[in-house]
Amino acid sequence: MTIGPIGIFDSGVGGLTVVSELVRHCPELEFIYLGDTARVPYGTKSPEVVQAYSRKITRLLVEEGASSILIACNTASAHALEHLKKEFSLPIEGVIVPGARRAAELSLTGHIGVIGTQGTILSQSYVHAIKALQPQAQIYAQPCPLFVPLAEEGWQGHEATRLIVESYLAPFKDTKIDTLVMGCTHYPILADDIQTFLGPDIRLVHSGEAMWQTLKESERALPCTPAPKRRYLATDTGSRVRQLAERFMGISIEEVEHIDLV
Ligand code: DGL
Repeated sequence: MTIGPIGIFDSGVGGLTVVSELVRHCPELEFIYLGDTARVPYGTKSPEVVQAYSRKITRLLVEEGASSILIACNTASAHALEHLKKEFSLPIEGVIVPGARRAAELSLTGHIGVIGTQGTILSQSYVHAIKALQPQAQIYAQPCPLFVPLAEEGWQGHEATRLIVESYLAPFKDTKIDTLVMGCTHYPILADDIQTFLGPDIRLVHSGEAMWQTLKESERALPCTPAPKRRYLATDTGSRVRQLAERFMGISIEEVEHIDLV
């Protein structure tokens, strides 16, 4: 029996960091990626608006033949996952629980840091997900909104990034955290800057890696074929997705299809 592609969506290009990890582990994975580049960012928008966008995207991916949905966007996972699960009958996975599970596994002190967009941090989704696994865990959360444009500008290792990393992450130095969840699609691009500031003993959790672990451990069969068909859809026109794909995924995308979400 053939299974339709996985529908993967994000507010924009950041979700390609998740795609990149999935493809690294499973080069035969077939998927349709949708970046809502016309409406990005989601991180500063209200839960209701992010839910409405996520609903439209899910409907479109189902119409395009997706057999399951993977929400690569942390903010959309935080605000919309539970709503989408009630409204659609196909399997839907977000990145919050996989990231929380990975953090709970990795942390020896039970003191865990979480960084993400304003929306993700305010939703407390990671706090609830980690506490559900480890009720005694101490969680320290910090929004880092400026990391998104820094990653998109390719400012890894830049002096401005060093200063912003220091200013956002300094409070973690006064805690006993040994694990930090990079709870936003863009943050793995700045992983070296984050690691340099926090030191080598802090373990970083990458949403893509955590998501792969969850998919691998699930009983669900994945759509894998020797010559996988992959489609990239974007709600904005222009070449930004193709330009940033190289930085976010390390591979070039031949074609990005423009779609309107109505
Ligand atoms: N993709 C978003 C996330 O992972 C970050 C960018 C945005 O704010 O839309 O939360």
